[in-house]
Amino acid sequence: MSTMLETKNLTFYYPAEEGRKATAALRDITLQVEKGSFVVVLGHNGSGKSTLAKHMNAVVLPSNGKVYVDGRDTCDESLLLEIRQRVGMVFQNPDNQIVANVVEEDVAFGPENLGVPSRQIRRRVDDALAAVGMSAFARHAPHLLSGGQKQRIAIAGIIAMEPECIVLDEATAMLDPVGRREVLETVHRLNREMGITVVLITHHMNEAEEADRVIVMNDGQVVMDGTPRQVFPRVAELHDLGLAAPATVELMDQLNREGMDLPLDAVTVEECADAVCRAFGIGQEE
Ligand SMILES: Nc1ncnc2c1ncn2[C@@H]1O[C@H](COP(=O)(O)OP(=O)(O)OP(=O)(O)O)[C@@H](O)[C@H]1O
Ligand SMILES: [Mg+2]
Repeated sequence: MSTMLETKNLTFYYPAEEGRKATAALRDITLQVEKGSFVVVLGHNGSGKSTLAKHMNAVVLPSNGKVYVDGRDTCDESLLLEIRQRVGMVFQNPDNQIVANVVEEDVAFGPENLGVPSRQIRRRVDDALAAVGMSAFARHAPHLLSGGQKQRIAIAGIIAMEPECIVLDEATAMLDPVGRREVLETVHRLNREMGITVVLITHHMNEAEEADRVIVMNDGQVVMDGTPRQVFPRVAELHDLGLAAPATVELMDQLNREGMDLPLDAVTVEECADAVCRAFGIGQEE
C-alpha cells in the first residue's frame, strides 16, 4: 500500500494573541494515511481536528515538521496546485460552499479553475453528479435543495476535479439524520468504487463504525489510533477524553456494569443486537 497523506513530527502554533504565549494546536503528530483507506478523526472541541485537516491540502503550513500529500511537500509552493487538486475539502456549512445558481455550473466551477478543457468539463460534471446520485438535479437551483443534497453537490464539485482524497470537516454536522446518511453513504461508495481516500472528521460516533481506522485527538495530539474494534472498547478512556463510544458499545458497557459479559467490539447495530440476543438467550432454540 502506498501513502496518501503523511505528517512527520507536525507541530503547529496559531499566532499568539497580544501579551499571551502561543500554545500549540498540534503537537508532534506523525502519521500516515494509506491510499484508498477510510479514516475517521474524532476528538472534542478544540482538540486540533480542523487544524490537522487544513494541513492536508496546504491551507495551513507546519510551524515545525513536515506534511506530504502523495509524496509532495506542502511547503513547496511550486507544488501547491498539484496538492490542492489531489485533496478536496468539504466543510460544515453547505450554504458557504455553493458558488453558482445552477447545480451543474456549481460542479463545473472547480475543474474550470483548474483549466480543464471545456469538452472534458461536461463529461466530468455528468460523471460527478452521477457518482453522488444527483444527476436528476443538474439544472436545479442549489439553494432549493436539502442540506444533504447540497453537501452531495459540494462533493460532486470535488469529484469533478478528480481528486485522490476527500477530507470532510464535520460535513454532516448541520444535516438532519436523512442528510447525514446520504452524505455518509455517498463517501463510502466513492471510497469503495473509485478508491478515493476519505478522511472524515465527525462528532457522530456511529459514523465511525464502518471506517478502516479511527484516530482520536486530544489537546493537539493523537491519543488513540486503530480500527473501530480496537478503539471503541476503550470506553472509560473515551469518557475521560470527553467522548462517548457509539451507542451500541455504550449500551453493552452499561449492561456489563450490571453484571453481564458482552463483547465491546460488537460495534455495529447488527453485531450488537446479535450479542445482546445471545446473552439473553433470545431467538435461540431451547
Ligand atoms: N484561527 C485561529 N487562531 C487562533 N487559535 C485558533 C484558531 N483556530 C483554532 N485555534 C485554536 O487551536 C486549537 C485547535 O482548534 P481546531 O479548530 O483545530 O479544533 P477542532 O478539533 O477542529 O475543534 P471543533 O470540534 O470545535 O471544530 C484550539 O485551541 C483553538 O482554540
Ligand atoms: Mg473543527
